[in-house]
Amino acid sequence: MGPVDQEGLSPKATLQVAFGDKKGYVLFYAREENAMSDTPKIAQKAPYPVEVTAGKSYFWCSCGQSSNQPFCDGSHKDTGFTPFKYDAETDKTVYFCGCKASGKAPLCDGAHNKL
Ligand code: FES
Repeated sequence: MGPVDQEGLSPKATLQVAFGDKKGYVLFYAREENAMSDTPKIAQKAPYPVEVTAGKSYFWCSCGQSSNQPFCDGSHKDTGFTPFKYDAETDKTVYFCGCKASGKAPLCDGAHNKL
């Protein structure tokens, strides 16, 4: 049996075991709360209007942890979330989702009104 990947885990319980005259311990690990979450953080309960430029790509933060909202700054590391790529086809104002609950991510669909 290979080593256990313990990243993001912390020991929660220890069980002493015995096999004949040999004694040992079994450690039980549990993932830390918030290390991985299914729920993104609400950055703000409103969209972010952004003037996009045709031909440019934008990386929308889906985890809500970025300090460069509405765009990804790499803070999603260890959250299980990844950014969404948005390719601008024309110059226009785009309303990027701020609550991270939009059904049309990365764009706002009004979901923040129900939070
Ligand atoms: S920082 Fe939120 S998806 Fe990258």
